[in-house]
Amino acid sequence: MTLVLEARRPRATRRTTFYPNLRPQLYQLIQSESVDPVRNPYAPGAGQRPPELAGRDRELQQFEVVLERVARGRPERSMILTGLRGVGKTVLLNTFRSMAIQRLWGTGKIEARPEQSIRRPVAAALHMAVRELAPRHRAPDRIEGFLGVLKAFAQAGEEPGGKGRSRVHRWQPGIDVPAARGRADSGDLEIDLTELFVDAASVATDLGVGIGLFVDEMQDIPADDVSALCAACHELSQSGGPLIVVGAGLPHLPAVLSASKSYSERLFRYARIDRLDRGSADQALLAPAEREEVTFTQDALDALYEAADGYPYFVQAYGKVAWDVAPGSPITADDIKVAAPEAESELAVGFFGSRYERATPAERDYMRAMAALGDEPVPTSAVADELGRKPSSLSPARDGLIKKGLIYSAERGLVAFTVPHFGKFLRAQPT
Ligand SMILES: Nc1ncnc2c1ncn2[C@@H]1O[C@H](COP(=O)(O)OP(=O)(O)OP(=O)(O)O)[C@@H](O)[C@H]1O
Ligand SMILES: [Mg+2]
Repeated sequence: MTLVLEARRPRATRRTTFYPNLRPQLYQLIQSESVDPVRNPYAPGAGQRPPELAGRDRELQQFEVVLERVARGRPERSMILTGLRGVGKTVLLNTFRSMAIQRLWGTGKIEARPEQSIRRPVAAALHMAVRELAPRHRAPDRIEGFLGVLKAFAQAGEEPGGKGRSRVHRWQPGIDVPAARGRADSGDLEIDLTELFVDAASVATDLGVGIGLFVDEMQDIPADDVSALCAACHELSQSGGPLIVVGAGLPHLPAVLSASKSYSERLFRYARIDRLDRGSADQALLAPAEREEVTFTQDALDALYEAADGYPYFVQAYGKVAWDVAPGSPITADDIKVAAPEAESELAVGFFGSRYERATPAERDYMRAMAALGDEPVPTSAVADELGRKPSSLSPARDGLIKKGLIYSAERGLVAFTVPHFGKFLRAQPT
């Protein structure tokens, strides 16, 4: 931080802010800035709440309707957000959760992991959801009854031969009621989830509210569990119980779900989260800046849109550096020229590099071959040709990359990067 600050030219003071805890030297530097780095509003980061949630009004309205209808016991499909890395799925999912909380719903969230059963995480999430409702519930025995079932559900995974036995994820439910018997404890996740959901929904019904279970990285749920989850949602949608599962995941999530249950298309409304259009990208930059009495010239906004291409993560990343290098308001196209290489190198390390590192050498070769073929989804056969290999010999690399969430199968026989601009990044790397 100091290094960056010291590289800056001192300016005439226009606005000052008093920071009592800063060292005098630093304080002087900050004071001399008119675009104050301490007040930099932009927030590049995984799941980081943006200073302005731009361009998502339609999804927010749709979810309002979902909440209202579910609470009234109307038949309603839940929502699943899909999109590339860094488009703002987690942020939107968290916003949906806040909307549910505002309506006094009970909520819980899980982040799915490959090869990890969802039994324990779902138990923990519903525990949290019902704990939010408990203080308002008039009949403590109803809550206790549910917690007994929840405990039984969580423990059923531990029975000898049960699916959760070998999993490392340990959840010690801090539930001091005895585990119930004969409900949600069969060890068959589909049956148990269905019973658990029905009971949780019924506790919420007592209060005239609902329960929202939010699932991030949903494409990572193991196949058996995803099918159990869909079946439980299906059952619940028939009984009209006010519990919904709201998901977020990579673009192939709908394909994962329909491969598991053909009726999943009727269970969920898919909302594809994409790049921000020009107006929304400008708003994402301008609204937070203007709250700090800073603005951008039109040329600067043009340059930023060109660089960030409307991808929310990039909008935040470029916005952040542009703010830090700009000597004053308005932030100009010249500032963006200075900022762009710095933002790019930060992205190369943090956004692209950290993901590239996760791949094995064979997987890296695979991705480089994909990148060489362009930015559109590419046929796996073309990747094989590019590498001079038989397609079948490349399946392990391809499957590994899919599992790591670096590529996805856009359509049968086609693969694409989950990370926007990843091809461009790879092409710029020395081989
Ligand atoms: N609507 C938006 N307007 C402005 N900035 C946004 C918006 N949505 C997300 N962002 C910003 O984009 C970045 C990425 O958001 P988020 O982590 O939610 O993406 P994601 O789709 O979940 O990515 P991943 O697939 O890697 O988990 C964050 O820095 C966030 O602040
Ligand atoms: Mg996310």
